[in-house]
Amino acid sequence: MKRLQTAVGGPAASRRSAIRPFVAMDVLAAANRREATGARVVHMEVGQPSAPTPRAVIEAARDALAAGRFGYTEALGIPALRERVARHYHEAYGVRVDPRRVAITTGSSAAFNLALLAAFDAGDRVLVTAPGYPAYRNILGALDLAPVEVELSASAPVLTPERLREIHAAHDLSGVLIASPANPTGTMLTPTGLAALVAAAEELGIRYISDEIYHRLVYDGVAATAAGMSPHAIVVNSFSKYYCMTGWRIGWMVLPEDLVRPVERIAQNLYICPPDISQQAAIAAFDATEELDAVRDGYAASRALLLRRLPELGFTDLYPVDGAFYVYASLGGLGDDAEVFAARMLAEAGVAATPGIDFDPVAGSGSIRFSFAGSPADMAEAVQRMEAWLK
Ligand SMILES: Cc1ncc(COP(=O)(O)O)c(C=O)c1O
Repeated sequence: MKRLQTAVGGPAASRRSAIRPFVAMDVLAAANRREATGARVVHMEVGQPSAPTPRAVIEAARDALAAGRFGYTEALGIPALRERVARHYHEAYGVRVDPRRVAITTGSSAAFNLALLAAFDAGDRVLVTAPGYPAYRNILGALDLAPVEVELSASAPVLTPERLREIHAAHDLSGVLIASPANPTGTMLTPTGLAALVAAAEELGIRYISDEIYHRLVYDGVAATAAGMSPHAIVVNSFSKYYCMTGWRIGWMVLPEDLVRPVERIAQNLYICPPDISQQAAIAAFDATEELDAVRDGYAASRALLLRRLPELGFTDLYPVDGAFYVYASLGGLGDDAEVFAARMLAEAGVAATPGIDFDPVAGSGSIRFSFAGSPADMAEAVQRMEAWLK
């Protein structure tokens, strides 16, 4: 089909580039502009740990720098890291994973591109949740795949096999992509809930993609992995969140046998390989448990504070925060337009948070997401600032 001309006369941008922005990143930019004027801003808009990268990882990176050899690696990653990730599955979950099924990726963000390209064809429909991680919907759109959004609520906060079957009957799905614990809600599937969903996907013949990026950031319950539940499921994970390594851009997938080579071919062509230094350093992340669990304990304190204070401040309908570092709540009587509310809260209280429209374009306008990935002191300050502002 012929593309439209732009107003300035040249060829227009593609239709599939017409995706929504990642609003949290836009709020971050606005918060940074405000900070640049000298104003104090407490950041609750992005899911980025404020704690530093673990010491062992920095040391490993220093050693790598001293050796000074960085090159292309194999597209699926260096064998030592693939083996270390596979060992992690045995240590953490008691699941045996063949290192050949582990693909190292440039953050989980690149993993989604690879997984979606390897598993689906243009036009295929993939179930995602609303509220949900905005990039799922937007990446699917950019890849000419069709997101089918299922609405969740604070009282029905997770997908059930029954709903999956219903939606498949209506939309003829090719796959389902679910994070547990989830962003923006923090709500987690129980091990039996996850197993039932994976089994339902299996029975329906559709691909289950399990985003496990918030594993090890769990406050209530147990996080089960889909690796080992089905030979056809794709598991995505990352060093960004628990491991405090967002800027290293490094993550991984556990792939079904038959997708290893397709993913390898696509990775070779799209990215060549993930950054060598990040791969070398990430091996040490699995030895930083003490340091990283202390960071998680700080989140647990912030979570307890927010779960107590946000309802007192007037926020309602909080989703269960089983894991991750988010609270997703309705504005209740505080307002009905979260974009306006968040802009005013940033300008007048110096607290940045992300309006729900980012996570749920249909029903999110009255909701807001607070990230408590910052330091416990900053989170306590944010609550004080909000309290003074809302009085
Ligand atoms: C659910 C979820 N998946 C994936 C990502 C992407 O993370 P990264 O590309 O840094 O691994 C995020 C980031 O916020 C997320 O919340």
